[in-house]
Amino acid sequence: MVRSKIAGIGMYVPSNVVTNNDLTKYMDTNDEWIQERTGIKERRYAHRTEETTTTMGVEAAKVAIERAGITPQDIDFIVFATLSPDYYFPGCGVLLQRAMKMKQVGALDVRNQCSGFVYAVSVADQFIKTGMYKNILVVGAEKHSFGLDFSTRGRNISVIFGDGAGAVVLQPTADENRGILSTHLHSDGSDAEILAMYNPGTHANHWKENLASFNDTEIADMFMSHAMIDNAENFPNMDGPAVFKTAVVKFPEVIMEALTANGYQATDLKLLIPHQANLRIAQFVQQKLKLRDDQVYNNIQKYGNTTAASVPIALCEAWEAGKINEGDLVCLAAFGSGFTWASALLKW
Ligand code: UT7
Repeated sequence: MVRSKIAGIGMYVPSNVVTNNDLTKYMDTNDEWIQERTGIKERRYAHRTEETTTTMGVEAAKVAIERAGITPQDIDFIVFATLSPDYYFPGCGVLLQRAMKMKQVGALDVRNQCSGFVYAVSVADQFIKTGMYKNILVVGAEKHSFGLDFSTRGRNISVIFGDGAGAVVLQPTADENRGILSTHLHSDGSDAEILAMYNPGTHANHWKENLASFNDTEIADMFMSHAMIDNAENFPNMDGPAVFKTAVVKFPEVIMEALTANGYQATDLKLLIPHQANLRIAQFVQQKLKLRDDQVYNNIQKYGNTTAASVPIALCEAWEAGKINEGDLVCLAAFGSGFTWASALLKW
């Protein structure tokens, strides 16, 4: 049976380090609160004009492609996960295709927020298993720093997020002891608005009651109005405690689902790479699954929550640090806005 394996992995984070103390210049917050509630000490912010979600994705992709021993021209499909695309449309996948001078291959953007990278890996995995593609580039990248409310009003979200990118190249392998064993994807949209960026969007919720009184020009303004900006509706909005409560249930569930599907137990795991949402969530999951410290990789302290980039960045760092070797059982798991959650179990 053909499986897909990670043939190359890379990451990129901007050089600009922003500490918790730096954020106190803009909002009423403090290092103690941020560290205690999230574990975050610092994060990276992209260069304002020179770096975008795509350019960071390109940098991570270059490393992953080189480590896979191929060139950008060998890539036959692109899957790009992000919630902070350069443009509302088209997606970052085509911008990366252009920037890396790739062939006119398919490019798919995945918009699944924190679980975006695991979803993207799952999509790529299916294309490899069916034999359709041989070298798929999967990227997770975010430039959050351009879309956050840096006033005190937005402090529960703005202190959490950071910028960066990670990428992998998936290739087929016939080796029974390697590759992606299974992926598990879930969603529940009943709480979609609990963690969301409402505008710009086509829902027009604010205007529904008075819709009849607007003319066409005014209706066009509903996509993005001054009022929306004044109300900070162009920034992400989150009920943090509600997200936290669901995350600590769904994370262990989806990890156990992956282990059980393949006849493994938590003790068999060499390394769990959880989406870096909050150190307290990762610690809760670790406790619940009775994992040792060396079985869970966390780097939220340095990068904050980089959404679709967090899993590949953590996976890349763990691999570079020699914490993952051939044959090791590794689980990727994520939970976030949607809600969507997902896991992937693989033998490195
Ligand atoms: O990756 C996507 C998925 N997202 C997540 O998984 C996030 C899950 N949620 C969380 O990580 C946590 O809920 C947060 C880190 C976002 C917030 O921590 P919390 O312990 O749940 O705090 P809270 O929202 O209940 O707020 C507690 C207090 C409030 O003040 P009062 O009402 O008790 O006076 C907030 O106004 O902390 C205040 N607060 C802050 N204080 C200083 C909120 N943000 C800040 C801040 N600095 N940055």
